Amino acid sequence: MAHIILDKTGVELAIYNTRGRALKSEILRRTVGGGLQDVHDSSVQVVNALKEVSFEAADGDRIGIVGGNGAGKSTLLRVLSRVYPPTSGRAVISGRVSSLIDLSMGMDTDATGYENIEMRGIMLGLNRKQAQALIPDIEEFSELGEFLSLPIRTYSSGMMLRLAFAVSTAVHPEILVIDEIIGAGDAAFAEKAQKRLQQLIEKASIMFLASHDNTTIERLCTRALWMKSGRLMMDGSPEAVLAAYKADKDK
Ligand SMILES: Nc1ncnc2c1ncn2[C@@H]1O[C@H](COP(=O)(O)OP(=O)(O)O)[C@@H](O)[C@H]1O
Ligand SMILES: [Mg+2]
Repeated sequence: MAHIILDKTGVELAIYNTRGRALKSEILRRTVGGGLQDVHDSSVQVVNALKEVSFEAADGDRIGIVGGNGAGKSTLLRVLSRVYPPTSGRAVISGRVSSLIDLSMGMDTDATGYENIEMRGIMLGLNRKQAQALIPDIEEFSELGEFLSLPIRTYSSGMMLRLAFAVSTAVHPEILVIDEIIGAGDAAFAEKAQKRLQQLIEKASIMFLASHDNTTIERLCTRALWMKSGRLMMDGSPEAVLAAYKADKDK
């Protein structure tokens, strides 16, 4: 059984690039011996990406997340995926989570397709044997054939996406987190991808989906959250939440 409790959850993110200090030069500065104490100097700005967000989710919830750009949708999904710990409040996430946020995250371009499948499986919490057991399904779904034995830097972007999508959807999580449904490559593959995603959603006990597409939210979700400026404005049925969100946009 999966369960989620967010209790006044807040996330503050630091931005380093005011006064021309890019993250890259910050990292370089640190690796050449700079200390961490400068993190609080005046060139750092803090964004409150999430502010006192509270809600609970339980088995069977299919939750759509709506809101404008910068509203905090992706930040919320990262908290739910345990990528960002809250900087205030509480977030209890119980259940195995898998997120379709950054599909190619953690892929090693010098490793072969097969090696990447194994590594990603292990990253998703499987042991080596379980990770290897994913291979036949991914071989069949990705249709990459002999290419799976080659380093993935030799793949086209479409091939890369097929592999990343196939691997990311091979493991069935209790809590599934999706940031916009991805149109994967050509039409035939996109249709296959939709079917696979549908199965993943059906098997998940809790699903979160951030999307700009109201039809997708209405079709797939039983509940919706409306985010604005990092705050949770409304938690209710998709119809009611989408109507309130639209009324606010049209104001
Ligand atoms: N890595 C980051 N570092 C600093 N600020 C960020 C980062 N990611 C997002 N933000 C800021 O946090 C706020 C929420 O962003 P985000 O969660 O991506 O919104 P959405 O997905 O709804 O468009 C925005 O103001 C955005 O600029
Ligand atoms: Mg986003």
